[in-house]
Amino acid sequence: MTQPLLSVKSLTIGVRRPKGVDTIIVDDLSFEIQRGERFGIVGESGSGKSLTLRAIADLLPAGVEILTGSIRYDGVELVGMPTPARRRLMGPEIAMIFQEPMTALNPVIRVGEQIAEGPRRYLGLSKRDAMKLAIEMMAKTGIPDPVRRARAYPHELSGGLRQRIMIAMALSCGPKLLLCDEPTTALDVTVQHQVLRVLEQLCADSGASLAFVTHDLAVVNQTCSDLAVMYAGHIVESGRVKDVFRDPRHPYTKGLLDSAPDFDQPERELVPIPGFPPNLAARPSGCPFAPRCAFAVEACTVAMPPTVVVAPGHAAACIESQSIFEGVAA
Ligand SMILES: Nc1ncnc2c1ncn2[C@@H]1O[C@H](COP(=O)(O)OP(=O)(O)O)[C@@H](O)[C@H]1O
Ligand SMILES: [Mg+2]
Repeated sequence: MTQPLLSVKSLTIGVRRPKGVDTIIVDDLSFEIQRGERFGIVGESGSGKSLTLRAIADLLPAGVEILTGSIRYDGVELVGMPTPARRRLMGPEIAMIFQEPMTALNPVIRVGEQIAEGPRRYLGLSKRDAMKLAIEMMAKTGIPDPVRRARAYPHELSGGLRQRIMIAMALSCGPKLLLCDEPTTALDVTVQHQVLRVLEQLCADSGASLAFVTHDLAVVNQTCSDLAVMYAGHIVESGRVKDVFRDPRHPYTKGLLDSAPDFDQPERELVPIPGFPPNLAARPSGCPFAPRCAFAVEACTVAMPPTVVVAPGHAAACIESQSIFEGVAA
């Protein structure tokens, strides 16, 4: 088997407390992204999705650190890599798109120049060639009249166009891995759909892999080939999107699917998951989902259940994963 593009092993992220117990936010996370794969990370707000992506991009907020674990990109360890070397990967190798483009775009620089900056710096292009590439990238993301729009300031563009600018900027240096943090959550549904299609098409054309964070299962279904479901800093289930959606084996995944609208069955009643995610500072022992889980037994509150392979390429961290849904899936 070829080496994965990204391999995250036992990654633990949190706040170090030299005089007390460290607060663990993301706990012992492991996953791999193959070349060209579109990998989704889903879970409710607060489950640690953004911090996971930020750890890969070396953009963790002040005070939050990688406590232990490994992140290998193309075989090279990123944890502990000196900052200048690490920063050189951002742009040409790894790029990131954020939820709210206004915070990532500079309000006083024309968008064309902002896109051209990466190719000038990382690809060594002249000002003129970099602008030509910026306009080409804008056209590829479906921005009408890119020559004129390149001269616009971010506030002069709609949310959908701004997010296309972010995509053009992120892909301008030809990264092999694109990290997306809820890139379409702020957009209305039709614009969201168009932007996702553009993103998918451009990644397919360039062969870039996608790590795509969202709380929206419909978006994962549309955009990703594989996924990990996160709950309270843990991956509770992972596999091919179609396998996990057809036959979820963790009660949390099943709860997410039951609580999300299904366009194929608009009549189906939505069943919300009762309760709230745990406070990470007072993490329950055992499975963090146990307090909200209809299937929980005493053993669930004692120790974190091991991750069990339930079918080829499909795993779940639930002691009842083999028995709970038997018959339900059929
Ligand atoms: N800057 C920070 N300092 C301390 N804790 C943080 C910080 N940012 C996030 N957290 C903690 O990490 C948890 C997960 O955050 P995040 O990765 O942003 O979740 P998600 O993207 O899944 O909504 C939050 O619920 C919060 O408790
Ligand atoms: Mg987030």
